[in-house]
Amino acid sequence: MEDSKEFRKWGYKFIDYIADYFDAIEEYPVKSKVKPGEVKACFPEVAPDDPQPMEDSLKLISEAILPGITHWQHPRFHAYFPANNSYPSILADLLSSGFGVQAMIWETSPAAAELEEVVMEWLKKMLDLPKNWEGVIQDTASTATLVALLTAREKHSDYQINKKGFDSNKYRIYCSDDAHSSIDKAVKIAGFGLTNLIRIPINKNHEMIAEELDLQIDRDREDGFIPLAVVAALGTTSSVAIDPVEEISKITTKQNLWLHVDAAYAGNAMILPEFRKEIGSLEGVDSFVFNPHKWMFTNFDLSVYFVKDKEALIRTFSILPEYLKTSSYGKVNDYRDWGVQLGRRFRSLKLWLVIQSFGVDKIKEMLRVHIEMARWFEEKIISNPDYELILPRVLNVVVFRYIGSSDPDSFNKKLLEEINDSGEMYLSHTVLDEKYAIRMVSGSTRVKQEHIEQSWKKIESTVRELKN
Ligand SMILES: Cc1ncc(COP(=O)(O)O)c(C=O)c1O
Repeated sequence: MEDSKEFRKWGYKFIDYIADYFDAIEEYPVKSKVKPGEVKACFPEVAPDDPQPMEDSLKLISEAILPGITHWQHPRFHAYFPANNSYPSILADLLSSGFGVQAMIWETSPAAAELEEVVMEWLKKMLDLPKNWEGVIQDTASTATLVALLTAREKHSDYQINKKGFDSNKYRIYCSDDAHSSIDKAVKIAGFGLTNLIRIPINKNHEMIAEELDLQIDRDREDGFIPLAVVAALGTTSSVAIDPVEEISKITTKQNLWLHVDAAYAGNAMILPEFRKEIGSLEGVDSFVFNPHKWMFTNFDLSVYFVKDKEALIRTFSILPEYLKTSSYGKVNDYRDWGVQLGRRFRSLKLWLVIQSFGVDKIKEMLRVHIEMARWFEEKIISNPDYELILPRVLNVVVFRYIGSSDPDSFNKKLLEEINDSGEMYLSHTVLDEKYAIRMVSGSTRVKQEHIEQSWKKIESTVRELKN
């Protein structure tokens, strides 16, 4: 495909393909049914020497790729956290590919840098975040948490670890027992060592016990460690437990530690004033991440990272080789200095077009509808004595299990497997308080009440089949 005429012809066909995909999405099994190696076997071991007709490639997409897709955009995808997209997001990503810019510095595409600034400011107001924070787009929450820990490390060591490496490592990082594995990963990469990630006990709702944190920091200082940073979870992965961020921030301020907030999923819901109110003040927080690629209709990947001390961030990551020097340096945002990567995609375009096309009120309404659906589902669980609600619902995630069996752990494992293998819906699991539990999330862009009701019926009918 070499000319724009051909591109236009196939471009229309590909858009039609995507539109048809969404129109028919409910006909596909939510979780792919392919066996390991089945997709690979459809492709030759050696790349073709000659150009292959686009018709043939499109056929291969339908016959080899599509069966190997797990349909994250299916309205009965209730597993993990959603990675929901939307038409404006898809179109903007297409346009971003078309422009093909590499937005490492302001000069290599001023529009990419400045639109990122605009959208970060919009989000700050939408989520009611402190005015003195500055935002930047990262690829994922995992990267943002790594960036936060590296910045904390450099600020504390007066930027000497970047220069000379560790003399000896006495730093300690803290998070709750239920915090996400991306923190373990960041601690490993940043050189602190996993034994210096200290897990703080949680209460019955799986929220960090702030007093335990305070005591542990004191104990560690007495033992000669250097308490460096706390990662508070604003919505854990298993149950969306919300650590008491404001209370923790008083401790980190008193103890002089960096406080990073991992709000990967639940951060999206902070656009709802009723939820934002519950979180309290964030003034004592040093950095904060949330993922619009989870629950703000913006396709993967797009993570938003806010930081209070922008200068510390930039000092940690800045590089200035001769070939990157520009006359605008210091007057504009050169985002290559705000994180790990040098080259950057034009990601702000899709988030901007989503907010621009939906409008903030519509996004709020969709989130509230999702929460309402979860409330309906939770009611079904509570009112049925054969089921147990493992923890009180937070937002649109219900954690439950069937208890009308002598061995609930094995029964619920089997139940999950049968449901997922049916292709009718997709759920995932966790273990809480030593109980194997099922998570039900209502967060797909296309989910309607009828889908939740169908999913509930499917759970009940599968239980009946397993009992027989
Ligand atoms: C609470 C929490 N933090 C971090 C992450 C990691 O997100 P990412 O895939 O953007 O790195 C997840 C992923 O689900 C999560 O649930």
